[in-house]
Amino acid sequence: MAIQQKGMHGAWASRWTFIMAATGSAVGLGNMWKFPYVAGSNGGGAFVLVYLGCILLIGVPVMMAEVLIGRQGRQSPVNSMRDVVNESGADSRWRHVGWVGVAAGMLILSFYAVIAGWALAYIFEAASGDLVGINGDTAGAIFGNLLADPGRLIFWQSVFMLLCIGVVVGGVKKGLGVAVEILMPLLFIMLLLLLGFSFFKGDFAAAWNFLFNFNVELLTWRGVLEAMGQAFFTLSIGMGAIMAYGAYMPQNANIGKTVLIVAFFDSLVAIVSGLIIFSIVFATPGIEPSAGPGLMFISLPIAFGGMPGGLLIGSAFFVLVSIAAWSSAISLLEPCVAWLIEAKNMGRVQANLLLAGFAWLLGLGSVLSFNVWSHIKLAGFTIFDFLDFLTANIMLPLSGLLIALFVGYAMKKELIDTQMVGTSARVMKLWQVTLRYIAPVAISAVFVMGIVDKFFS
Ligand code: TRP
Repeated sequence: MAIQQKGMHGAWASRWTFIMAATGSAVGLGNMWKFPYVAGSNGGGAFVLVYLGCILLIGVPVMMAEVLIGRQGRQSPVNSMRDVVNESGADSRWRHVGWVGVAAGMLILSFYAVIAGWALAYIFEAASGDLVGINGDTAGAIFGNLLADPGRLIFWQSVFMLLCIGVVVGGVKKGLGVAVEILMPLLFIMLLLLLGFSFFKGDFAAAWNFLFNFNVELLTWRGVLEAMGQAFFTLSIGMGAIMAYGAYMPQNANIGKTVLIVAFFDSLVAIVSGLIIFSIVFATPGIEPSAGPGLMFISLPIAFGGMPGGLLIGSAFFVLVSIAAWSSAISLLEPCVAWLIEAKNMGRVQANLLLAGFAWLLGLGSVLSFNVWSHIKLAGFTIFDFLDFLTANIMLPLSGLLIALFVGYAMKKELIDTQMVGTSARVMKLWQVTLRYIAPVAISAVFVMGIVDKFFS
């Protein structure tokens, strides 16, 4: 049978390994750290609903399109895109879509490593016993001290970058394919444990209300834009990470069902993290749900400080957050590395050092934006906030829009059909309508309104 197998990199052992790897990429700081604080800053309920709507109506269809291009191309994202464009006889300018992705990947990695560094630092913070018995004020002070110290931030950012290089240099599949299958289930168990704690010890009802009460007045267009950006960020779509993983997906796996499972796991982790964090926030005087990026690092330590065995559970939890961040960050690095190897004939080690070094250097801007450069503002944002806003809310949706339009209008129908065999005509129709009309219109509308809202009000 002539199953198309251009790929020299091999394939995931099974559909389940793909699910775990894609979940490893998707589940990361975006779920545990970013989702709760962005939802918190945007008033909760209505934001969460818009976010879930974006996952289903925009995220899932676009993710399917990305996996499909990857599996058809069977190479690094930039080259997969090139081949699929050629085979479709489409306008060669479509090939440039890959570029937004490579650029976004580097920018995201730069600040992602800084935040992951916080999680690494907190492993030791928790293990040292510093968190035992702390309250809202002391938790805030401990976190504030970390942010105020560029040396410590750079140290942990560097450690995290080295961990990423360590994996990507050796190739992702064997190391990560295996690791992710063990670590993801562990992560889910840890989350359930904390959910239990917050249910009995925190203000669970208030957290539930906050996340699920539909309060439209609190939602702005800017908030809707952030909800959409968060949907892209958390699913790892819009930069080729999922395209790269799709290239190793077994040919007989059903793309639609597989993507739905990944999106389900991803949303589950985000919601559960939100419930845990807000239960603690509402039970603790002195922290606000709108506390911003520090939310997780202030509220969870309080929980750990107050529970029996908190020393152990606390450090274990931050180990898991770090691992989740790690399995996501390598999916940010790998597509760029693969592209540099293919395009510039560079060695894997060299490509890694160059790209990670570049992202590290850029990350110093984010490090300093929390202390000595906190007064420097770009379009009203600190450097960290600017990079976060630019990538998640502008670059990822933009390349997602282009991917939807490409698969919706320009990709050859026969290629799509080969990749989607076994999908019912109804689902195909629904998917096509979403890619052609719903996603593009929604993305464009949210873009325009969100940006108008940000800069003109
Ligand atoms: N999805 C990851 C998270 O939620 C972050 C991430 C990994 C990502 N790879 C990506 C975001 C690619 C956008 C694109 O933490």
